[in-house]
Amino acid sequence: MMTESRIPGFYRLPLEERYAILQERFGLSDDDLKALTADGGLDVARASLMIENCVGLFSLPVGLGLNFVVNNRAYVVPMVVEEPSVVAAVSNSAKLAAQSGGFEADADPGQMIAQVQVLDLTNLDEAATVIRAAEPQLLALANSKNPGMVKRGGGALGLEVRTFDTEPDMLVVHLIVDCVDAMGANAVNSMAEGIAPLIQDLTGGRVCLRILSNLADRRLARARCRIAVDDLATKTMSGYDVARGIVDAFRFADVDPYRAATHNKGVMNGIDAVAIATGNDWRSVEAGAHAYAARSGHYRSLTSWSIDGDHLIGTIELPMAVGTVGGSTGVHPTIVVLRKLLNVESARELGMIMAAAGLAQNLGALRALATEGIQRGHMTLHARQAALAAGVDSDQVSEIASVLVKNGDIRTETARKLWQRMKR
Ligand code: MEV
Repeated sequence: MMTESRIPGFYRLPLEERYAILQERFGLSDDDLKALTADGGLDVARASLMIENCVGLFSLPVGLGLNFVVNNRAYVVPMVVEEPSVVAAVSNSAKLAAQSGGFEADADPGQMIAQVQVLDLTNLDEAATVIRAAEPQLLALANSKNPGMVKRGGGALGLEVRTFDTEPDMLVVHLIVDCVDAMGANAVNSMAEGIAPLIQDLTGGRVCLRILSNLADRRLARARCRIAVDDLATKTMSGYDVARGIVDAFRFADVDPYRAATHNKGVMNGIDAVAIATGNDWRSVEAGAHAYAARSGHYRSLTSWSIDGDHLIGTIELPMAVGTVGGSTGVHPTIVVLRKLLNVESARELGMIMAAAGLAQNLGALRALATEGIQRGHMTLHARQAALAAGVDSDQVSEIASVLVKNGDIRTETARKLWQRMKR
């Protein structure tokens, strides 16, 4: 079992040595390793049972976010992402956080909201009263649609009735369901559909939509880190100046939605990558995050940064509707292996790690933006992509990329010319 999330020099090791570490340190079998390659993993036959009109598979790189310490426990965080620098940046930031004790994180229980829309009502107060009075009956009916969830310690817990000033004939019932370790979309949707006829009978209204809300604001995850300002110093900037730049960047995102969209995109670079690696619905996590960022009526930063004495303090809070059971989590062979690596026991624990990954990713982006900018750090990886796009053989990509970086000309066309010359 893993006790450490630091693997010095991992990025420099050849693939076979990385695999040897995964076997030795994380107990992965030969079959597990195969599931990380083109020879293992998902096959088309299985894929075609997952979606309709399936015609093939689509591969993306899997990287490991290293150096994570969350609530005093070390985690190696699998990330599926095509963008260069994301994994390096998150690992660097996690290392900085680990130097001051790592991330503190917590997450709410797995409560999701199902919405039932009721229309054509003439007296909303009366309809609301009738629904509230029938709460025990409605909850029992909802739970009868998914007794398994009740057995696992969850199930429908309560109701809320919402009305809207501009919609005098419409109310919306919120059914609150604890999904425990499942993301819960299917269960919640079945419950919403299951209670709709009774709501219609009780109110005399017309039920239209019955579906979960992705604004899972009863299922928030939070993370916090404390970074020694001195650890942020660069060759040309003091740690304090870098910290101040990060705080200034946060202030920008918090007041300006144009900047907040990019700032939060950077946060989601980390969160989505873990969502995909763990078989979670990243569109749902994205939707929840952005809706939550706009909850004040103004779209803002999902993170906050401030300076407290000699430390830079970062926080994040956002909905985290993710599961460790159900959905595609047990179906996709690569995801099964990546979950072994991450080694979390509950959806809440996963949510905490994802929040920490989002905060670390944001720190990486703001630190680069507030110092040398992001382009310099991206150069080598962009150069590799240019070389790959130019058709360079995999074992020559690094060599061509370093020439591109050295000459400051990172174009696919230039890579192609260099490659042709090298082959002669
Ligand atoms: C790029 O994928 C993400 C960044 O734009 C995030 C940010 O600007 O904060 C670097």
